[in-house]
Amino acid sequence: MNQSAKIITLENEKLKLKIMTFGAILLSLEVKMGENKHYDVVLGHDNLENYLRYSDTYFGAIIGRNANRIKDARLTIENQEYQLEANERTSNLHSGDNGFHNQYWSIAEYEPDHLVTLSYLSEDGEQGFPGNLKTSVTYEINDTTLRIKIDGVSDQTTIFNPTSHSYFNLNGHASGSIENHYVSLKALSYQPVDQALIPTGHVESVMGTPFDLFEGRQLKTSLQQPHDQLEIANGFDHNFVIDHHYCGNRPFAEIIGDQTGIRLEMFTNLPGVQFYTGNGIPEMTGKNNAHYSHRSGFCLETQYFPNAVNEVKFMSPLIKAHQKETYETLYHFTWK
Ligand code: BGC
Repeated sequence: MNQSAKIITLENEKLKLKIMTFGAILLSLEVKMGENKHYDVVLGHDNLENYLRYSDTYFGAIIGRNANRIKDARLTIENQEYQLEANERTSNLHSGDNGFHNQYWSIAEYEPDHLVTLSYLSEDGEQGFPGNLKTSVTYEINDTTLRIKIDGVSDQTTIFNPTSHSYFNLNGHASGSIENHYVSLKALSYQPVDQALIPTGHVESVMGTPFDLFEGRQLKTSLQQPHDQLEIANGFDHNFVIDHHYCGNRPFAEIIGDQTGIRLEMFTNLPGVQFYTGNGIPEMTGKNNAHYSHRSGFCLETQYFPNAVNEVKFMSPLIKAHQKETYETLYHFTWK
C-alpha cells in the first residue's frame, strides 16, 4: 500500500481544486470570480497532521462504506449479524476509524484540467462489513460545475452508502459563521432524531417548522426559531428527504453566500441529504491560519437515510454481489 499522501490539482478557468490521496479529501475548492477575486469555499488544513488531529470533523473526506450513524453499531445482512466499531458512544459514526476517510487511495486516472479518479479496495471484513468492495471516487470539473461520482461493486451483499463530507462557506473558508447564508432545500419532510442523533424512524413534515427551507431563507431565521430538534443537535444535523421532483436534473439545494454572492446549486441521484450546520466544529486554526469554530461551515451530505440499514421502511443502502452502483452529486457555482 502506498503510505505517502499525494496532492493532486484540478484546474480550469473557473475552478481550482486540490485533492489528497489520503481520505480522498477535497483540500480546497477555489471559485475564480475574476482577477483578485478567488474564494476558497471549503474548510481544510495545511497538513496531514491536522487532518489526523481533527479527524472527528471529517473535513472534505469521502466517507464510507457507510455515512452517518448505525444504531448500536450493529446491522444484519442476509440473516447474518455484524458488529461494527462503536466510535461514538454505542453508535457507529461514518464507519469508524477504518473508514474511507482514513485510507490511502490510488490514482487511477488523472487529467489536470478535467478529472481525477481515485480507487480503493476495502477488503472483506474491513470496518466489520462483509465483502471485498472495490470503490472509486471521481472529482470532475467542467466550467463552473464540480461532479463527485462514487462507484462501488462488491463480491458479497454489503452496505454501500458513501458521501462527501466537505464543509462549505460560500463567503470564503476563513470568513466566520455561515448563519447569514441564504439556503433553500427542496424537502417536504425530514427525520427527527433521538438524543444520540439517530433518526427515531419517523418522517415528519417540515411545514410550519424551522425545517421548512423549501422556499429559501436566511439560515439564522431558522436557527433562531425555538424547536426541540434544533436544541438536541444544537442546530441542524438532520436528514432531509429530497422531494422526488428534485432528484436528478433539478437542484435540490441552493445556497448563496451573503458576502460574495456565490451561489451553489446541488443535484444528486440519492434520496436524502444530511444538512449539518457545523455545530460541533471545535475552535481551531485551519489552512492559511484561518480561525474556525462553531458554524464556520455547513455540510450537505447526499446519502441514504441514516441508520436505514436497520429500518425496513427506508430505502435500503445495501448492494447485491456484483451489482455496480454509482452515486453522484453535482455542485454548480454561479455568481453575478
Ligand atoms: C454528522 C454530525 C457529526 C459530523 C462530524 C456529520 O455528518 O451528521 O453529527 O458531528 O458529521 O463528525
